[in-house]
Amino acid sequence: MPHDPADSPAPAGPPAAGGAEPPPAPTPQHSAATWRQIVDSASDTAIIATDTEGRVTSWSEGARHLLGWTEAEMLGQDLERLFVPADQAAGRFAAEMAEALASGRGGGDEGWRVHRDGHRLWAVGELTPIRGADGSHIGFVKVLRDRTAQRRAEESAAEERRALEVLNRVGSALAMEPDLHRLVQIVTDAGVELTGAEFGAFFYNVHDEEAGSQTMLYTLSGAPHEAFARFPMPHITPVFAPTFHGAGIVRSDDITRDPLYGRHPPHRGMPPGHLPVRSYLAVPVISRSGSVLGALLFGHGRPGVFGERSERGLTGLAAEAAVAIDNTRLVAEAQRELAERRRAEDALRELNATLEQQVADRSAELARQAEALRQSQKMEAVGQLTGGVAHDFNNLLQVIVSNLEVVRRAAPPEAERVRRAADGALTGARRAAALTQRLLAFARRQPLDPKPVDPNGLVAGLAELLRRTLGESIEVETRLQQDLGWVEIDANQLESALLNLAVNARDAMPGGGRITIATARLTLPPDGDAAPADDLPPGEHVLLSVTDTGCGMDEATLRQAFEPFFTTKPVGQGTGLGLSQVYGFVRQSGGHVRLDSAPGRGTTVRILLPRLAAPAAAPAPGANDTPRASSGRQETVLVLEDDADVRAQSASSLRELGYQVLTAPDGPSALALLSRTPEVDLLFTDVVLPGGMTGADVVTRARVLRPGLRVLFTSGYARDAIVHGGRLDAGVRLLTKPYGYAELARKLREALDAKA
Ligand SMILES: Nc1ncnc2c1ncn2[C@@H]1O[C@H](COP(=O)(O)OP(=O)(O)OP(=O)(O)O)[C@@H](O)[C@H]1O
Ligand SMILES: [Mg+2]
Repeated sequence: MPHDPADSPAPAGPPAAGGAEPPPAPTPQHSAATWRQIVDSASDTAIIATDTEGRVTSWSEGARHLLGWTEAEMLGQDLERLFVPADQAAGRFAAEMAEALASGRGGGDEGWRVHRDGHRLWAVGELTPIRGADGSHIGFVKVLRDRTAQRRAEESAAEERRALEVLNRVGSALAMEPDLHRLVQIVTDAGVELTGAEFGAFFYNVHDEEAGSQTMLYTLSGAPHEAFARFPMPHITPVFAPTFHGAGIVRSDDITRDPLYGRHPPHRGMPPGHLPVRSYLAVPVISRSGSVLGALLFGHGRPGVFGERSERGLTGLAAEAAVAIDNTRLVAEAQRELAERRRAEDALRELNATLEQQVADRSAELARQAEALRQSQKMEAVGQLTGGVAHDFNNLLQVIVSNLEVVRRAAPPEAERVRRAADGALTGARRAAALTQRLLAFARRQPLDPKPVDPNGLVAGLAELLRRTLGESIEVETRLQQDLGWVEIDANQLESALLNLAVNARDAMPGGGRITIATARLTLPPDGDAAPADDLPPGEHVLLSVTDTGCGMDEATLRQAFEPFFTTKPVGQGTGLGLSQVYGFVRQSGGHVRLDSAPGRGTTVRILLPRLAAPAAAPAPGANDTPRASSGRQETVLVLEDDADVRAQSASSLRELGYQVLTAPDGPSALALLSRTPEVDLLFTDVVLPGGMTGADVVTRARVLRPGLRVLFTSGYARDAIVHGGRLDAGVRLLTKPYGYAELARKLREALDAKA
């Protein structure tokens, strides 16, 4: 123990100090050496004496133990060297001495002191002045105790407290935070605060089938986002792997020295430009389902920054983060589900709200369709009826016309009155025939002879005729579409249909006006909304329309206009058969007709016919070509007719025309006659016959007997026997009843002259 070898009685007095007075004498009980022993026994307390200037005069065993220096090394040294540089610069020791002198005690604060080997220790101690027997100041005594361990424990407790505070704060913040991004940011910031990292980040665990497992930077704390913006999504490198596979916390005092570091190409470590990381701390964030949501990663440029405490704090933080992330996801999912349910409910409510309307619409539509069906059934029934009546009527007219013609021809030249009367009767009979014809047309029982027709040509010719006949007060305009195409139709009937419409238009415009006849091409979509509700077939059509600027029709008239005998015209001026003919004919021809009219707004009648892209051959000359008036040349005609009157009358007309005539009332007798009489050239037969054998049946059988036999049919109306789908079978010649003498002559001649 280094102390005064002379066992100086002055225990703290510097040997060469300028103390003017001698040290006090030891008490009788204790020698100086004894005192020294007493002082040295306080081994964990430094007891140091200085002179009045603060230079060491005595250095106890406790001081050596605490501060490292021996007494020999310290004697005469300024005690200020124990202070840390900052305290030295602040003149702290001088202040302590002044305070001690002034108040009897100086210092007393805890503070850092420097050990001989350079490390610091936390110490507390006071400075007390030493006075001589006369009370004069002869030096100071400094007593120092080491408080480093306590201080570390206090620090640690404070840090734990702070960590708890952070976790608490974060916990309640997370509970309030619905936004996932902000939530993770709170966690990352808290991690940096807890660990003392320079920067921290949360990386999301991304499962990508193609690229393999990757991580996505989600939030960053302590560094600007640009610091990572340049880097691609990092792969799960060997360093990251344990964390992202949920192995637990990874802490490294210097990650660059970790055996896993630098294994992953292409960068083999941190990519160029990466923030420098030496201290590394990573913790997985694991969902309650067990999957790794991501990881919190922290870094510091200095090695050895993170300790166990950082680890502990992070474990708690990661658990809080996992719960919060799980919850926000659950909430988001619940909200999505709620929104979905609300949408479904809204849709249902909407549906309910519109259901009534939909039912009403649908009911109205059904009612409309039912009405349309009823209307068409009514038309069909009326058609059946008129067809039957017209048939009988035609036979009667045939007899009347033929006999009147006989009367006319037989009347002597001087019997002028008889001839005129016969002419008058004939005119009446022909008008009756025309009427019957229209009835048949409505009933769709008139035999049609459809040929390819160019509607534009037909309309142009008709317009010319109308201009000449309707008079100056009525303007006739045509609007014809180019490249219209063709329709397959009976041209005569089409002409008469358009004529009917034009006459109706004229009647609706007593004060004059304009008739517009237009043609157009129309394509009906497969089953689009453009197609009116009924059975319009899709595809190419030709539209023929007749529009007038007349009085128009009210609802009730519109509903009944097509019905036969419906007319609003005074007795004698309208038969009510015009539109019926148009309707029946158009329907029989596979087309559709529509009325569009309102009172005072004029009327448009539209006829829609299937379009024929191009005629197969040049259109055949019309049936109304000038007939070649020619009479019989002693050829033999077999007349097959069940009505005796008609049979007798036909026979007489034919004989008059110069033919040999045989007659038969039914099929079997006609066939018998044929087999017996080889000179028969032509069979003139009614289509409808009694006894189960039609005219067509007889013809078939007759042709077996006589292959070259010519045939001419006649009929009051034609049904399936020779007319299929409203048109004559190929090669069939038909003379419709009632026919006149000239017509009979012409048709018969044609039939005989035609090539077999
Ligand atoms: N263009 C039109 N403008 C106004 N009303 C019309 C028109 N066409 C027809 N009508 C109405 O429809 C009814 C029936 O017409 P429809 O052609 O069938 O017979 P009608 O013209 O009266 O007689 P018919 O044509 O037999 O001489 C007409 O009486 C008329 O009331
Ligand atoms: Mg009319």
